[in-house]
Amino acid sequence: MKRDIHVVAAVANGGIVGHEGKMPWHLPPDLRRFRQLTRERTVVMGLSTWESLGGPLRERENIVLCPEPSRVCEGALVIDSLAAAAAVASRSGPVFVIGGHRPWVEALTVASTLHLTRIHRDFVGDVVFPSFDATQWREIHREVGEHPIDGVPTRYEFLTFVRRATVTGSRSHRPRPGTTTLSG
Ligand SMILES: NC(=O)c1ccc[n+]([C@@H]2O[C@H](COP(=O)([O-])OP(=O)(O)OC[C@H]3O[C@@H](n4cnc5c(N)ncnc54)[C@H](OP(=O)(O)O)[C@@H]3O)[C@@H](O)[C@H]2O)c1
Repeated sequence: MKRDIHVVAAVANGGIVGHEGKMPWHLPPDLRRFRQLTRERTVVMGLSTWESLGGPLRERENIVLCPEPSRVCEGALVIDSLAAAAAVASRSGPVFVIGGHRPWVEALTVASTLHLTRIHRDFVGDVVFPSFDATQWREIHREVGEHPIDGVPTRYEFLTFVRRATVTGSRSHRPRPGTTTLSG
């Protein structure tokens, strides 16, 4: 059976998602949303994201994408491709791809849903969320909030997008060119 794939990410200005193996911010409302979305589900992540966690995410099945499937990650399954990870995921509901860059790139080609937390602030970072074709996605939910990060009030948005149905041969559904880079 083909699994429903969802992408989850928290993204600051310029698409920044990580720095030196860590998240550059601590945003409790985003952590709560992440937990609500992924609890009791399967989460799939790259090896660096796994290493940044320091152990498995509780109450979830953890799958780590790694080119060496013989590697041991205690508390997680280690798999060498996203397709194989989706095939072995044992929890019900969607499979959540939670980062980093390459897992998101691959998941964006097949995912039905994107859950993005947009953090309206500049951070220094070395990993970005991939650019994606915004015309392929329809926003279905937006919730705006504000919370201090390092003592500075910071605006954020919880955004949910679903993939638009593509209708071959229909002019009205022809996608417009352009990509979203989540910059600014
Ligand atoms: N803001 C957020 O929401 C968020 C979420 C998650 C992580 N992060 C941050 O992002 C950074 C980590 O992301 P990253 O992009 O550097 O690393 P990553 O994707 O987590 O891990 C990279 C490793 O995973 C392997 N890998 C990735 N995709 C694979 C695939 N499809 N099949 C097999 N192996 C695969 C890579 O193998 P190869 O070397 O062969 O490519 C590499 O060894 C950290 O700073 C972390 O804190 C932020």
